[in-house]
Amino acid sequence: MTDTTMSSVQPHWSSRLMFIFAASGSAVGLGNIWKFPYIVGENGGGAFVLLYLACLIGLGAPLLIGEVFVGRKGGAYPASAFIKVALAKGRTRAWGGLGALGATIALLILAFYSVVSGWVGIYAADFAVAAMGGEAARSGADAFSAMLADPVAQLVAVSLILLVAGTVIYYDVTGGIQEVMRYVAPFFAILLVAMLLMVAGTTGKFVDAFVYMFRPDFSALSAAAFGEALGHAFFTLSVGMCGMLIYGAYLDDGANIPRLGFAVAALDTGIAIAAALIIFPIVFAFDLEQGAGPGLLFIALPKGFTLLPYGNLFGLSFFVATFLAAFSSLIALLIIARHWIEESTPLSGSGATLLTVGVTWVSGTIVTLSLNMWDHLTLFGLGLLDFFDELTSAWLLPASGLGMALFVARAVVPDMQDGPLKSYLNICLSYIAPIGILLLIASKFIDF
Ligand code: PFF
Ligand code: NA
Repeated sequence: MTDTTMSSVQPHWSSRLMFIFAASGSAVGLGNIWKFPYIVGENGGGAFVLLYLACLIGLGAPLLIGEVFVGRKGGAYPASAFIKVALAKGRTRAWGGLGALGATIALLILAFYSVVSGWVGIYAADFAVAAMGGEAARSGADAFSAMLADPVAQLVAVSLILLVAGTVIYYDVTGGIQEVMRYVAPFFAILLVAMLLMVAGTTGKFVDAFVYMFRPDFSALSAAAFGEALGHAFFTLSVGMCGMLIYGAYLDDGANIPRLGFAVAALDTGIAIAAALIIFPIVFAFDLEQGAGPGLLFIALPKGFTLLPYGNLFGLSFFVATFLAAFSSLIALLIIARHWIEESTPLSGSGATLLTVGVTWVSGTIVTLSLNMWDHLTLFGLGLLDFFDELTSAWLLPASGLGMALFVARAVVPDMQDGPLKSYLNICLSYIAPIGILLLIASKFIDF
């Protein structure tokens, strides 16, 4: 079976472990380390974690598995992959629109993901200087506002990151992303375990954090919390954007896709919980604000680091790990845009890479300037960064998730072997996903 529209010989991951490295590299990112702990903090801890886990099992994981199947059957170019699978099942080419939607979402996310990755890079550099005995690292609300007010540092950070990330995606999935993730994934894992041990050993608050994370306070739940949990389940697993579709295209025919999908979903959740178990003990030990929102990572936590023994080294490890997580998600987002540009314009390799990086650089610059020089710039009453975040997580991702669920339930699941797995995917994709997503959309218009 050859794909006549794109290259006829599809390269493969050098091993299935490399798929796990790349796919969990895509999944694990700012969503786990920056967003998850603060939305848990804002929504009352354990009850929200349970709600999120329900969304993950009922919708996130089944969609992740579905997307990977579409990629393996349809190839590594999002719109063409949907079209190919649709036509083979006697359905309309219009399903190709899901590829365009996914790539559009990826480009919108890149506009703020690149900027926040830049902040993480700036903090990592600061802690590196501090750890080597230089100036004190950034900490506290003033330092954070000072960074936001300074467009130059942020623009330098975004530009450097995009230069490196652009080089990686120029070499495509197996030549670029795989070769980077081969080293980044194990290094990240080592940093994470080392930090968990350090936190458990130095703060004395590990158990408190554990209780906070897992003791459910159901009174803190609301329709809004459900929306947030659902949107986050998509965002954190990188589903609905065709990134998993692309990585799935490089799997061999013998790969057990459901098992790989569950492994990636479990790793993503495990790492989000590990990140929270690193962050909250520090927050509790120094009485820092737990519902600090987006500032948790950039204001509360760095202040905690400066109070810990070996705090500069700790801060450096933390921001380097976070940076690696963000970077491996950034290259996943960029490759979606590159592949989509390749299939929908005459551009190929270097041209498509340049256009992808160029568009991201421009949108990242606009978002950066909206934080300082152009701070009157708002859309629907939100600053640009929040607007892009809200537009993608709260609206576009659920919409594309709904489309993908319906497609996979019709065009992929019927071909599967009968058994519990097929029933699970069927129930989740045909019933739970559409009902859950429609409820979510309704909850935006009606106050329950
Ligand atoms: N899953 C990433 C996170 O949790 O930060 C975000 C993301 C990366 C979304 C890559 C989509 C994607 F293709
Ligand atoms: Na994630």
